[in-house]
Amino acid sequence: MFVLNAWYVAAWTVEVKREPIRKVICEIPIVLYRKLDGTAVALEDRCAHRGYPLSAGRVVEDVLECGYHGFQFDCSGVCVRIPAQSIIPQRARVRAFPLVEKDGWIWIWTGDAGKADESLVPDTHWMTDPAWATVTHSFQFECRADLIHDNLLDLTHESFIHLTTVGDDYIYEHGVTVEVEGNLISVDRLMPGVEAPPLYAKTMSTKGLYDRFHCTKFYAPSFHALHSGITGQGRPRDEGYLIKVMNGITPIDAQRSHYYYAFSRNFGVDQAWATEELVDGLATVLIEDKEALEWQEIGLKSRPSNESDVLIAQDEGIAKARRVMGQLLAAESATSSPK
Ligand code: FES
Ligand SMILES: [Fe+2]
Repeated sequence: MFVLNAWYVAAWTVEVKREPIRKVICEIPIVLYRKLDGTAVALEDRCAHRGYPLSAGRVVEDVLECGYHGFQFDCSGVCVRIPAQSIIPQRARVRAFPLVEKDGWIWIWTGDAGKADESLVPDTHWMTDPAWATVTHSFQFECRADLIHDNLLDLTHESFIHLTTVGDDYIYEHGVTVEVEGNLISVDRLMPGVEAPPLYAKTMSTKGLYDRFHCTKFYAPSFHALHSGITGQGRPRDEGYLIKVMNGITPIDAQRSHYYYAFSRNFGVDQAWATEELVDGLATVLIEDKEALEWQEIGLKSRPSNESDVLIAQDEGIAKARRVMGQLLAAESATSSPK
């Protein structure tokens, strides 16, 4: 049901402190805390003794103590103390998860720990580069993660859902170029000779016509980097007003998803008013997406099983991404099912 051999955003760096916090990721309950040296730790949030959530306990130096009968687990998940007896059964351990902390995100590997390859964590360096300014938001969407992936792979919805912020009719009038390379699906749209989107025009201090572009890169199954912006007509994209929209999509279960969102820009970087306007404006955009996808989830629940989507040419990225996701799921179930 979920691709587990992957890096998912588990939390923002600032969320994880010494006190344990609970997150459910791909239906796995997880507790996160920090050791004395600041290193983040992720363990399964269910005590080996009798199932109490460890996140309801406390951190003692570097170990996590269950709040029910005081079993203590170290950061590798091994039980190191049982207050009521000196013998510690071998089975007294909980699962520990590989983490990578980078650029303000904490990534978790939910599958086979031996396959966790740090080099697969997507590039998000704009978050910490002083030449860029960043706004972040987090939401819980009451919908399956696949709907968020589809939404990011087909930005023609901007013409309708985001009409007052980033939308305009010209978006759906331009087609997309789709490329697939392993787990990476790229959907590119060039919109030549158009005005800047209403939400950004003031911050960009621009007037007149530009080439606008969107290039969504979906690192299946968990992350989208949208490389967008405007540039002079016929000019290279790199010269323009650039935006990197980073979207960490982390399933909670089949009907709910964590959405970690970061928006980095290379213009008006020192303008606090611009950042404030974008915080509000981007929250509006995300709430528009959230409401639309939650309605779509409701719509799909009543759809008979013999009906399916009617995809059109603009959905090419969605179709290809679904194929990749299907292949990833099939590969995992082939390796996990008994021979
Ligand atoms: S359930 Fe955790 S110590 Fe008993
Ligand atoms: Fe949207």
